[in-house]
Amino acid sequence: MKLAGKVALVTGAAGGIGAATARLLASEGAHVICADLARAGAEALAGELGERGEAALLDVASRDDWDRLAAAIGKRHGRLDVLVNNAGISGMGDLDSIDAAFWERFQRINGDSIFHSVQTMASLLRASGHASVVNVGSLLALRANPALPAYCASKASLRAQTKAYALHFAQGGDYVRVNAVHPGSTLTPMMEANLGESEEERAANYARRVALHPLGAATGRIVLPEDVAKAVLFLACEDSAFITGIDLPVDGGASL
Ligand SMILES: NC(=O)c1ccc[n+]([C@@H]2O[C@H](COP(=O)([O-])OP(=O)(O)OC[C@H]3O[C@@H](n4cnc5c(N)ncnc54)[C@H](O)[C@@H]3O)[C@@H](O)[C@H]2O)c1
Repeated sequence: MKLAGKVALVTGAAGGIGAATARLLASEGAHVICADLARAGAEALAGELGERGEAALLDVASRDDWDRLAAAIGKRHGRLDVLVNNAGISGMGDLDSIDAAFWERFQRINGDSIFHSVQTMASLLRASGHASVVNVGSLLALRANPALPAYCASKASLRAQTKAYALHFAQGGDYVRVNAVHPGSTLTPMMEANLGESEEERAANYARRVALHPLGAATGRIVLPEDVAKAVLFLACEDSAFITGIDLPVDGGASL
């Protein structure tokens, strides 16, 4: 049990990577607060985790929601040991096709949310004595893609904040580590559903994604949510006790 007795918060817990992460952290002994905008999904997952699960309704772009959640966690647990900032949106749209509202939505949900999260939870993280923040970025924080500039910029913001907050806590004498994992194309239920209609189309689309990942040649697959969850667990627990501020790509070599 790598996280026995720890209190963890996972945002976007109703989604593919978030649910896999919440399940793994709970299986390692953590009490997991499953937060999401999708109330039913968060409650279902918390129910599945039994006494190790707790649901929270949270819009990561809302400062009021973060303030409320920090107060509730403070009252109930008095500290926060693991904070996984995983909630996010994705979507295509190049420079010629997007508008300012599209741009701002991505920065608010994927980028600014990290600031609200870490700032509102800072005193609970410090109260832990040894806390770990894991931000779920993207391969596209490391490599540009002209089809998704708003997404790339939002994840680059997450990446820069990860390093700035890692230094902030460390230089302040607080044992709060802050790291990022960067998944490549991940086989979530939503992606699976969007691969296409016919078997042929689905197989061709999947093969195209496999080819983007160098390790795909040997394995015939892309990233699985469980691959990302295991990287999050590593950064969340004592195995990474002296690691802070890093980028950990989980992408089969796609960022090389
Ligand atoms: N799936 C991929 O290929 C991939 C690749 C790289 C990075 N990522 C990142 O991994 C994270 C999880 O992605 P996923 O594939 O599991 O997606 P997903 O769509 O399956 O899950 C995302 C979850 O976040 C929640 N969410 C969205 N906006 C929210 C908000 N404002 N407040 C609270 N919750 C909100 C959704 O309700 C959903 O449950 C995201 O940050 C995404 O950018 C995913």
